[in-house]
Amino acid sequence: MDPLRTLSAAPTSPALAKEYALLDAGLARTADTLPPWDPSPYPPEALASLQSTWVERMSAEHGSFPVFTGLALQLSEAGAGFDAEAVMLRMAADEIRHAALCADVLTALGGDPSCVAPRAVAPLARHPGCSPMERALRNVIYTTCLSEMVAVARFVEALEHIESPYLRAMTRRLLADEVLHGQFGFHWLDAQRSWLAANPGVCDSTERWLRHALAVIELRLAGTSPRPWTLTDAERALGVPDPARAREVFHTTLEGAVLPGLERYGIRARRAWEARSLDPVGEALAQLA
Ligand SMILES: [Fe+2]
Ligand SMILES: [Fe+2]
Repeated sequence: MDPLRTLSAAPTSPALAKEYALLDAGLARTADTLPPWDPSPYPPEALASLQSTWVERMSAEHGSFPVFTGLALQLSEAGAGFDAEAVMLRMAADEIRHAALCADVLTALGGDPSCVAPRAVAPLARHPGCSPMERALRNVIYTTCLSEMVAVARFVEALEHIESPYLRAMTRRLLADEVLHGQFGFHWLDAQRSWLAANPGVCDSTERWLRHALAVIELRLAGTSPRPWTLTDAERALGVPDPARAREVFHTTLEGAVLPGLERYGIRARRAWEARSLDPVGEALAQLA
């Protein structure tokens, strides 16, 4: 078997690095100057925990890039329009930029600014029997309205506690893009109002699919944390995610923002939430983005 390959933000070539810098500057939503990183107020244990957080984040951010790339292809199959396709590809590029930002943070912290490259990227769910429009709709809802909205809430939660000016600035840079990622699905649903009205069966089938999708995302994002301990004050001040809050943030976001948002388009998301259950077919889990 091939050895594991790593991904890093190290320049591939001067020409590509120059183009990437132009792209990154063009997509940046915040123009704040970056304060210096000052580790002196924090104990070594909290700094180690902080480093683990950004290592995991780097992998997760980069792992989102192929999801959005796949979704851009599905939007194209659905005839979504140039703006929807391009914004989705922008979101894919954002996730690479976010991984690079994580690498910058790890460099500042004195850690290893690289992560393991995936051996293979799983394709997005095809939802057999669905039209290209309905397939795209389901995957847009799952990845942006559900998953990215929870990501936004987690960053907002972290920002309430982060004291380090450097980490606040870096987290705000991520959050600024994630807000667009979370809103994309609702923009898409807005654009499909007349199509949904002309195809009432889609709302019914989306509700049936949502029963399973909501159970899957609850399992993935509100489940038990690999970090069972209680955060120290220093960890909290550095923005280490609080495992004790993960479930509450998930439920508050879903029940307070996502479900009402989907209901506005005739999708009975609350009813689906109350009836949520995992499909007994295991492959359905793997098919979700
Ligand atoms: Fe991201
Ligand atoms: Fe994102």
